[in-house]
Formats: sequence, C-alpha cells, structure tokens
Amino acid sequence: MSDMLLEVTRRPAARGLIKSLGLPIPLPEPLARAKEPWSARPLEGAVVIAGVCGPTTLVTPIATALAEAGASPYVDETHAPGIVEAFASASEAYARPVHADGAVPSEARIDALVFDASGATDVAGLRALYEFFQARLDRLKRSGRVVVLGLTPQAAAGVSPSRAAAQAALSGFVRSIAKEIGKKGATANLVLVEPGAEARVPAVLRWVLDRRSAFVTAQPFVVSNRANEGRPAAWVRPLDGQVALVTGAARGIGRATARALAREGAHVLCADRPEDADETSRLARDIGGVPVSVDVTAADAASRIADAAGARGIDVLVHNAGITRDKTLARMKPEQWDAVLAVNLDAVLRITDALERRTLRDGGRIVCLSSVSGIAGNLGQTNYAASKAALIGWVDAASERLSGRGITANAIAPGFIETRMTASIPLAIREAGRRLSALAQGGLPEDVAEAITFLASPGAQGISGRTLRVCGGALIGA
Ligand code: NAI
Repeated sequence: MSDMLLEVTRRPAARGLIKSLGLPIPLPEPLARAKEPWSARPLEGAVVIAGVCGPTTLVTPIATALAEAGASPYVDETHAPGIVEAFASASEAYARPVHADGAVPSEARIDALVFDASGATDVAGLRALYEFFQARLDRLKRSGRVVVLGLTPQAAAGVSPSRAAAQAALSGFVRSIAKEIGKKGATANLVLVEPGAEARVPAVLRWVLDRRSAFVTAQPFVVSNRANEGRPAAWVRPLDGQVALVTGAARGIGRATARALAREGAHVLCADRPEDADETSRLARDIGGVPVSVDVTAADAASRIADAAGARGIDVLVHNAGITRDKTLARMKPEQWDAVLAVNLDAVLRITDALERRTLRDGGRIVCLSSVSGIAGNLGQTNYAASKAALIGWVDAASERLSGRGITANAIAPGFIETRMTASIPLAIREAGRRLSALAQGGLPEDVAEAITFLASPGAQGISGRTLRVCGGALIGA
C-alpha cells in the first residue's frame, strides 16, 4: 500500500490546503533519490561549505572527497586559519578551485555542510560547531546534507576526558540536527575516523553526500583499518567483473538489491525458494544474472550456490532472505520460533561457513539484513528480533576473523521499508512506523539496495563489523 501523505505532498494544492487549514498532519518531504548508475562527479555544481575546528588530520581526505566528486567547496576558516590553502593544495590534483567562505552569494541555497570536528577537545571546540551550523542551516536545500566528522570513541578517550566528552557530544548534536532538518528531506550523519584510516574516508564521505543515501540519517559511519587492504576504490561501475549472491531475490529489498548490484557491474546469482522460481528467473533474465532456485534452509543450499558460482567464486554475499512469524511469546509455537531462526540466522551462518574458504574471494564482502527490530525489540517479535540482533553480533565477530583477507562483514538494519512484509502490518501501526522518524516517511527497497551496494563497493573497505541503519532516522531504538 502506498504512502498516502507522501502522495498528497507531491501535489502543491493539497499541501497548501492542509497547511492553510492548520491541520496537525505531518507533511513528509519527497526525497531526492538517484536512479542512474554511479557517476564520476555527483557533486558537480553543488554548493558545499566546509569548516574545521582545531588541529586535524582530515583536511586531505575531505578535500579529496569533495574535489574527486566534482565540488568546488567554500571553506570557512574562522576557527582554523590557513585552512583554505590546505584545502586548495589537497584539491590541486583534481583541478577543482576552492573558495573562501565569504565568496558564497548570501542568497545561495546550500547543498551540503561538512564540518570536521575531530579537533574539538573542549567546550570552545563545540562552540565552533554551533557557530558553523547556526549561521547556515536555514539555507540548506531540501534533501540537503549535513556531515560532521569526528574521532572514534576509542581514539577520543585515549587522549583526555575533556576530548572524549567533546567528541561524544557530536553524536547528540548530529542526531538532533537530523530531526530538525528531516522535515525538508535533508539528512545529517556523523563520520567517525580511527587514526590511521584517513585514506579510507573519501569513499565514505562521498556516499554520505550522494543522493543514494537519501533514507540514511542520524547515523554514525565508523571508518577503521579493521579489514586489510582490498581492491582499489572505483567511482564508476564499482562492481565491474565481480560476482554477487543475493538470497531472497524474488521481490522486495532482495530484488532491488540484485538490480542495483547488476547496474554497477556485478554478475548476480539471484537465489530464492523454488516456489518463487518464476519471479527469480524473470529477474535474472532482466539483469543478465543467473537464477538459483534454492531454499536457504536446505541441507544442500551452500553447495547449490557454490555450483552456480563455479570456479570463479563469489565476491559479494548478501544474506537478505528473511521471514516473520509474529506472536507474543506466550502464544508462540515452537515451529514459529524455529522457522524464523532457521531462515534469518542459521542459514546465514551455515551458508557463509560453507562458502568462506573456497568460494568467497579475498577482498570480498558480506552484507546481512538485520532490522531496527533487532536493535529495539518489537512486540510479538521475540523470534525475529533475536535472529536480527544475532546478525549484528555475528558480523562483528566474522569481520574480525576475515579481516586478514581484506573481507568486510556488515549488517544493514532497515527501519520501515515499503514492501510486502510491511504492507501486511495493521494500518495504525503501519502509519506509526512511517511517521515516527526524522524523515516522517517509509523508505523504499531501493534505499536499502543503495546502502548494500555501497557496502559491497571496494571504496567501503573502511567499514567492517558495523551495522548501518537505513531507517529515515526512526525514533525507535535510536
Ligand atoms: P519480502 O518478504 O518482500 O522478501 C523476502 C524474500 O525472501 C522473498 O522473496 C522470499 O521468498 C525469500 N525467502 C524467504 N524464505 C526463504 C528461504 N527459506 N529460502 C530462500 N528465500 C527465502 O521481504 P523484504 O521486506 O524485502 O525483506 C528483506 C530482508 O530485509 C529480510 O531479511 C527482512 O527481515 C529485512 N527487513 C525488512 C524490513 C522492511 O521494512 N521491509 C525492515 C527490516 C528488515
């Protein structure tokens, strides 16, 4: 079922009427999304303003990310004298000019605000953060971007309690801004960098600033050196020549993911249950992939998948197949518990174990579909939430084990996404699921697919063992 309020807001007359009547109806802003393949310069022509406070090692990665993506940033040097020159020299290789912040036309609408707060060590540093955003937030465009960069909690705590406090403040700040700007469809996210992982920042910053991250807001992206080096980052067809497996590919998030991975160059093995063989075959035909008719809980599931991959092996494993069997615990039958744990958890562990040594290639990627229910819990979902929380723990452990081979393992925790699964939720709960978020709307399967594609791309080497919420800033479990 479609989101009626979102449809209404697309019609200016209806939107105006609701506003003029003063009705207490939230009017979600339609999000600007990217449908075309990844491009070399997604920020060409964008008005991007960058700021810095205190000493930092992040100017080069930020300047590189912006210049490579085609932006000519305006740089505020109020709290970091000389920083304009530092940006300019880091951008030189890309022939993108850098301007002083004073050059921004006062009436210009802003596409993105990027603030490097990694040098904030005390209350004065936080004041710089306040000043940078306070002066400009009103001019942020619809579907604009706010990104704050800081240090990982471990790095911040290692120096002084005052620095740990200043860095921890960034999370509350960003989550609050996300709520403030969500009504215009804009997002705010935090990029936390482990010292030594600076070279892995540009690819992450680029994606967070891209329209592909439209439904990701109020989230931390931790960039680390956990996984050894993998393949070099690529901005156009990043998955060229790679083989990807998507389970549960016949519909919903799985189908959107198979399409997105294929669009970026991957050869996709589309796996789903034998009952869905027609849909799976149609999809595989559409995207030049291969259908694999298999129940992921079957004893021979992994060997069937390995056979389909052949000697070439698999680069990207997307464990997406999932089911719900909701009941309060008191009423839950053992078969309902077992079915959910078997598909959502046991199959993921068994298939990965079997494919890990010979089929999964070095520098590869594992992405599991967790859920915000796995983080927050949900009434009637003890089985589902347990299985989805388990995956969060599992990717952390698996990423450690596979780090030496340059393989990353991450989970995606979708919030409310418009699919068959959520269409079956009773109306009132469905509406609450959509509206109780910073963006006040449900996401699309494509939003999750874009996040999976990003984590699957070579540039995402710095993100491993993490869980990324794709939830529109959902209030639950945040
Ligand atoms: P969906 O129900 O639309 O699609 C799931 C697919 O998995 C179906 O094609 C189904 O045939 C397949 N599948 C189920 N059991 C299987 C098995 N034993 N073997 C092979 N394939 C099997 O679900 P949707 O909404 O696309 O969800 C995809 C994933 O995202 C699931 O893991 C779900 O738990 C997760 N998720 C979805 C959310 C949402 O709002 N839609 C929110 C949070 C998580």
